[in-house]
Amino acid sequence: MNHDNHEVKKDAAPHAVCMRGITKRFPGVVALEDMSLDVRPGELHAICGENGAGKSTLVKILSGVYQPDGGTLEIGGEMVRFVCTRDAEHAGVAIIHQELALVEELSVAANVFLGREKRTALGLVDDRAMAAECAQLLESLECRIAPDVRTGNLRVGDQQLVEIAKALSLHASIVVMDEPTSALTESESARLERTIAKLLARGTTILYISHKMGEVFRLADRITVLRDGRHVRTVNRADTSPEEITGWMVGRKIADRPASAPRVRGKQLLEVRNLCLPWPEHPRGYRLSDISLSLCAGEILGVAGLMGAGRTELLETLFGAGQSNWTGDILLEGRRVRFLHPREACDRRIAMVSEDRKRLGLFPDLDVAGNVSVCSLHEALYGGLLSRSGEDALVAGSVRETGVKTPSLHAPIMGLSGGNQQKCIIGRWLLTRPDILLLDDPTRGIDVGAKAELYTLIDQLCRNGMGVILTSSELPELLSLADRIIVLAEGRLTAEFSRSEATEAKIMAAATG
Ligand SMILES: Nc1ncnc2c1ncn2[C@@H]1O[C@H](COP(=O)(O)OP(=O)(O)OP(=O)(O)O)[C@@H](O)[C@H]1O
Ligand SMILES: [Mg+2]
Repeated sequence: MNHDNHEVKKDAAPHAVCMRGITKRFPGVVALEDMSLDVRPGELHAICGENGAGKSTLVKILSGVYQPDGGTLEIGGEMVRFVCTRDAEHAGVAIIHQELALVEELSVAANVFLGREKRTALGLVDDRAMAAECAQLLESLECRIAPDVRTGNLRVGDQQLVEIAKALSLHASIVVMDEPTSALTESESARLERTIAKLLARGTTILYISHKMGEVFRLADRITVLRDGRHVRTVNRADTSPEEITGWMVGRKIADRPASAPRVRGKQLLEVRNLCLPWPEHPRGYRLSDISLSLCAGEILGVAGLMGAGRTELLETLFGAGQSNWTGDILLEGRRVRFLHPREACDRRIAMVSEDRKRLGLFPDLDVAGNVSVCSLHEALYGGLLSRSGEDALVAGSVRETGVKTPSLHAPIMGLSGGNQQKCIIGRWLLTRPDILLLDDPTRGIDVGAKAELYTLIDQLCRNGMGVILTSSELPELLSLADRIIVLAEGRLTAEFSRSEATEAKIMAAATG
């Protein structure tokens, strides 16, 4: 990341990537319009833009997933036309997709070498060689995932690391990372940053998409901003500021969060006493051990912890979406409950936004309206019949409230950008008007402007009496939203802080035990 170096290289070598006038249209949307971009060899080039700005479309064109409707692409000075991802791999481009593209039924090693399986002298698939190399790759990422584990059994964060290992195994000269840290916790992101430094030292060029300004400003040599599918600006990191970048992204200034009056705590909604969740296959023996907590109306309880600390398990247990062999007490307004299915939790006005929207959240065959209204269709029933206009009105309100960008209410959900899909899921659960809202890393992949709006929305709902339990991989988010923060480490509750006591340092100390 040495700027002087780049100045020298700039004239000596052709651009690693050179896009000219790239255009890509989808039904009802122009995802990219006349987009030009130069990436210098060996630089880390960050790409910023709001949800739906066209970032993922750009990297999908670069990696052969989509073919552009117009414009040209050069890699290392050579004109290319990728018709499939294999073409891009051959040209030395590897991509870590935003929506993970792993085969869940296969092992980690099989995924890493999918389509490029190692063979023995006899031509048989060489599982041992693949497992060994895979173990090495994972080791270089400082992560402890066994190569023979079924990929579908891994949490999103671990799956993301497998994607990264896969990209590394291609020894690509250009690595494209589409929000690689969106499912990683802070310590895992730090680990990834060390890997990135190694790649850069090796001369690899990196295109890096992220909504996290801190990360962008730590890593990038140059930053390109997209807005509505168009190139807005490319600048040296040293010559700009996060405020300037977000200003270009949204085309207006985002107000800082107004210093708001403290929320008033209402009656107790939920109490958890000595919750334990066994984990027989694991040497530790439990996923959660002796967790006690409470939640009042009007309150946001933050749950901090590293990946694997048990945050998701805790929320899933409360929601009836996890294993049911837990012990202890869960009390709703003083009454003991044991939900065996999320439906039962919904009936008691609990809602949950899951961290893994692909597996647990989206209905890929339904349109935007269907995905948003699926849990509150009874609201759109008139005389026992489903009213299309009733449903549309319901959805339109939600889409407006959460700021979803979609060509129409009846567009396919899979055509929406990652961040906009996430907003649809949040909107779906808010429509159920829950008393208790469980948010598992809800703003993953949501742009800075939309995040600020979502925070305001959550704050308002709490002021109207909702109670929220929130986990986040971004500590600043917890610190600014939560009234209290509990910290989990390896399934145990290790600390609790009030809003005024909590600091990043104290939370990290408690999270790392
Ligand atoms: N396969 C598709 N079919 C239809 N529309 C699509 C498709 N892929 C992308 N789009 C549209 O193109 C636009 C740009 O989407 P893209 O995924 O590139 O945004 P993004 O900048 O990556 O956003 P995010 O930050 O939310 O990931 C959006 O309006 C999106 O709805
Ligand atoms: Mg995207």
